[in-house]
Amino acid sequence: MVSVLFVCLGNICRSPTAEGVFRQLCENQGVISGLRIDSAGTAGWHEGKTPDGRAVAAARQHGIDLTSLRARQISPSDFYSFDYILAMDGDNLSELQQCRPPDSTADIRLFLSYAIQCEQTDVPDPYYGGDEGFEQVLELTRNASACLLMHLIARGQVAAVEP
Ligand code: 4NP
Repeated sequence: MVSVLFVCLGNICRSPTAEGVFRQLCENQGVISGLRIDSAGTAGWHEGKTPDGRAVAAARQHGIDLTSLRARQISPSDFYSFDYILAMDGDNLSELQQCRPPDSTADIRLFLSYAIQCEQTDVPDPYYGGDEGFEQVLELTRNASACLLMHLIARGQVAAVEP
């Protein structure tokens, strides 16, 4: 079982979208039983809330339902219980590096570091912008999710399914 935690600032826009996109991909590829997928925020402002309505609407366009997700703040135990902790932007990554326990076992990096043919390093924060920002989050997370799954399969952490 490999575990992946997606992290942004508020856990209501980017990281729940990444969680939903990656989960749908893994379900469609028949590998979901080998994975634990979750998301969290570096901040706890929106603890217990459903994802932002604009994120829910953008995900729904791609057949992904985010309405069962609830925001939570990252906790110290996450740094031991997840194999991968993937930050949406450089600020999230700095925050994670500052608050990680020194003996944390998780592989902490930028989510887009897995994305192929992608010049961006950050998934831009769409919270204060328009709907197009949420569509861009979908596009970036779809690309990076496919690359992340290939990485996990190549490392033997997820069993590839015969076509
Ligand atoms: P997220 O977006 O980090 O992608 O969930 C944000 C959500 C809320 C806020 C900022 C960013 N906020 O300032 O409340």
